[in-house]
Amino acid sequence: MISKQTIDKIFSTIRVEEIVGEYVQLKRAGSNYKGLSPFHDEKSPSFVVSPSKQIWKDFSTGKGGTAISFLMEIENFTYPEALRHAAKKYGIEIEEDQKDFSEEAKNAQSERDLLYKIHEIANDYYQNFLWEVEEGKAIGLSYFKERELRDDIIKKFQLGYSPEKKNAFTAYAIEKGYSKEILEKSGLSIFPENTPAGVDRFRERVIFPIHSFSGRVLGFGARILKNNVKTAKYLNSPETEIYHKSNVLYGLNQSKQAISKKNVCLLVEGYMDVISLHMSGIENVVASSGTSLTTEQIKLIKRLTENVTILFDGDNAGIKASFRSIDMLLTEGMNIRVLLFPDGDDPDSFARKHPQEYVERFIENEAMDFIDFKAEILFKDIGNDPIKKAEAIRDIVKSVGFVQNALKREVYLKQVSNKFGLSEQSLFNELDVQRQVTQNQNQHVQQQKEQSAPVKMEVVPLNDEKGDPFMFEVLFMENKLVDHMLMFGDIVLKRKDDQEEEYQITVIEEILQHFEEEGYEFLVKGNEIIINQVKEGIQNDELRSGTFFVSFMDEEITSKVVDALIPLDDLENWASRNIYPPNYGDKIAEQVKGDVLLHKYRYIDYLIKQTAKELDEHSSSDPVKYFELIQKITLLKQASMRLSDIIEYSPIKGIYGDRKR
Ligand code: UTP
Ligand code: MN
Repeated sequence: MISKQTIDKIFSTIRVEEIVGEYVQLKRAGSNYKGLSPFHDEKSPSFVVSPSKQIWKDFSTGKGGTAISFLMEIENFTYPEALRHAAKKYGIEIEEDQKDFSEEAKNAQSERDLLYKIHEIANDYYQNFLWEVEEGKAIGLSYFKERELRDDIIKKFQLGYSPEKKNAFTAYAIEKGYSKEILEKSGLSIFPENTPAGVDRFRERVIFPIHSFSGRVLGFGARILKNNVKTAKYLNSPETEIYHKSNVLYGLNQSKQAISKKNVCLLVEGYMDVISLHMSGIENVVASSGTSLTTEQIKLIKRLTENVTILFDGDNAGIKASFRSIDMLLTEGMNIRVLLFPDGDDPDSFARKHPQEYVERFIENEAMDFIDFKAEILFKDIGNDPIKKAEAIRDIVKSVGFVQNALKREVYLKQVSNKFGLSEQSLFNELDVQRQVTQNQNQHVQQQKEQSAPVKMEVVPLNDEKGDPFMFEVLFMENKLVDHMLMFGDIVLKRKDDQEEEYQITVIEEILQHFEEEGYEFLVKGNEIIINQVKEGIQNDELRSGTFFVSFMDEEITSKVVDALIPLDDLENWASRNIYPPNYGDKIAEQVKGDVLLHKYRYIDYLIKQTAKELDEHSSSDPVKYFELIQKITLLKQASMRLSDIIEYSPIKGIYGDRKR
């Protein structure tokens, strides 16, 4: 593992503007840099880099962080991978620290490295065999030529050939010093009991390497060439430490730029579909390669675009199975269109038959939205049976129910209503029923997920009163106070105590004191994490404020902190304002004081409300409890009144004007 000192050194040496500058063309804007978002196709720049804070923020996607998190984002690196990459660029020597980490963790890291390495070796080996060795040229290359693939495309996708000899690659790798163990783990070799020399998984097949988002080889697909052999047409790498097929999309590495530029991703089924479309100049295409689409795969696409067009063969047996993919895409907030190729054609054959422009226009004009598509498939052999018709419509409405955006949902429902001549009201009712059903189905799964889910920054109400305005007010102030800590944590305030003695206190300490005093329970889990970190910092004599958390490796926390550090409003003016958002300036002392009071005030209101509710529940059953609760409410009300007086007469009142309730 990389030592703490090395990590610190990396963070203090690297420059975010230089690292980002390799991917994004940056222009000076005041004390910052601006550029076009690399994560989103856009015309006016919404990507900002702050050299003084050493952070970046992408306003089009909401992402932000340090140079290291940028590398993780754009290269799909893990944290240590990104650190190593940065260290290399700046010539920083990596000091490995072993004492903190178990031997096992260290081995796991190097095992992953070895697996990547062996795939690289195999990839070179298969390609070399295709281009340079007689057997490869005669069988593999001539097969690709038969399928009319151009050389540049074969090279772009790094296609290869695995020879007939039983253990050709295994022997080659062992000679290079790779262990049987790692070869077996990579899935490239198999070592049956009576064959110590091992057997290659892929033999006499053309090879399609499967790349990660950033272009590393994770595994292979291999197509058989003889038609009469009774084995699967494609043999794929098994799941390994580095290859999880539900997290990978074939062609994504080669297509990512075109997908983000065209702002739409074509989704096909097979390796050859991706390759043929690329050959005819259509480069925004990926394949789910043999698995049905997964949520992880959709998220990979979503980093580049929210628009997906699914391309099917005309006689595709899996069309109805695709309905599940449609619902999943809708659930992830994607916009979908679907295209059926005419009888007998698949994207591969269609792309080879027609010129690029024709194919592009065909996709553009013929793709249907999911409602028309589902209707076409479902109504195909229904005839005039009203019950079956109703079933089909219900099925379509169910899909509409997966659309996350309420406005879009309504538009789609209107479309269904027009298409089938049904009243919107009855469809809305149906939608409600459907959503209820799905919700019930999901609830159980969701509950299980939540128990093990990582911390989310979202507003998670701790009780089920979603719309409770009292709680919302508290929450608002809680967030605001934490933002203050992050932004101005180290600013020293001058205060006077009860005896009018002046003392000094940092913003962090003052707000922390307030939270502690109240025995406050945080409504947002992420805030609690931040506060605990701050406390731990104080115990270690360090002041953990904004920049500390920016390099804190929790994505949710980092993005919250970056949001706090780079005010969202008015990008243009932001550059000229340097640090503080408007109305702050030298008012920080008052602002913090006022916000603490207001938070307290609203929190008390909230507690009163909570207690009153409790009172309702206990009023009849438990007289002792009842009395306790009444007493609690009285005390809270008194506190609330005292506070309201302070707020009324305090100079901070001006800041809030009539917002005080
Ligand atoms: P296809 O049979 O359409 O394959 O299966 P293809 O890639 O278009 O290949 P050609 O045109 O016959 O050369 C679609 C996808 O399903 C997976 C592969 O990912 C393939 O690309 N598949 C298919 C397998 O994994 N194993 C198989 O035996 C068949
Ligand atoms: Mn095919």
